[in-house]
Amino acid sequence: MNIETQGTFADVSPEYAAFVEKFKPKKTTDDCYTPKPVYDAILGWCRRHYKLPDGTVVCRPFQPGGDYERFEYPDGCVVIDNPPFSILSDILRFYNRWGIGYFLFAPALTLFSNGKSGKTNFVVCGTQIEYENGAKVPTSFVTSLGRNVIEVRGDLYRLVEAANAKATKALPKYDYPDDVATAAGLQRISKRGGVFSVPRGEALFTRRLDAQDKVKESGIFGGGFILSRKAADARAMAERQARMDGDEGRTYTWRLSERERILQDGLAKKGHRQ
Ligand SMILES: C[S@@+](CC[C@H](N)C(=O)[O-])C[C@H]1O[C@@H](n2cnc3c(N)ncnc32)[C@H](O)[C@@H]1O
Repeated sequence: MNIETQGTFADVSPEYAAFVEKFKPKKTTDDCYTPKPVYDAILGWCRRHYKLPDGTVVCRPFQPGGDYERFEYPDGCVVIDNPPFSILSDILRFYNRWGIGYFLFAPALTLFSNGKSGKTNFVVCGTQIEYENGAKVPTSFVTSLGRNVIEVRGDLYRLVEAANAKATKALPKYDYPDDVATAAGLQRISKRGGVFSVPRGEALFTRRLDAQDKVKESGIFGGGFILSRKAADARAMAERQARMDGDEGRTYTWRLSERERILQDGLAKKGHRQ
């Protein structure tokens, strides 16, 4: 029976609908499977960055039906894997307790939420990985490796972005120089409270640059203007100024209290002793 032609699944029977639902690809972060090129890029980076000795066993215990607590971890191994994010705190507690080395994918925006233990290090990356179920998740990493509690790694970001583009066959992102004005590009100025204007006669409308003739189906999205050199300089200045002035008008900057300043001073002394 073609149930799609018989009304909604629930019209057929709630039990049957629930049965069918089980087989639909899930989009929760717990069911995000890592494309191989992305995993390989991260593994290679870890081996180089942390200078993992030759022969280090790398484990991936997070698999359907797996049980990371009963997994056999060889001595000196490192778990490099994408765990279910919903139980990440438990996983970190377990690995920290048993001294098992790890470098794990983690949700980028709530990365530091497991900072209290004092045992986990954080690698800020924020790359948007497109997982095999189609979910796009901003991803950073938590690790027992290295000596820094926080590392911000643009090199890892770039590697993962490139691998992700390869895996998803994503189109490259285009950007333009100061002398090509696109609506999206100029919004960077207005969103930060900046002002900038181009007098009539200083801009020439175009839908594509000569350089884009050779690239199939490329062109300036939404059209654009070639600016006079004078207008391009003014635009660059306005962008710089807007970047300095900073935010998008909705940002409130929190400040440290006196109490936190005292803690901070203690941190400096402790840091020197180490
Ligand atoms: C985010 S997916 C990643 C899968 C795979 N490691 C990868 O990188 O493609 C997390 C996996 O962990 C599995 N999982 C859930 N609870 C687990 C547990 N307690 N022990 C081990 N694996 C578990 C899920 O079934 C899911 O397959």
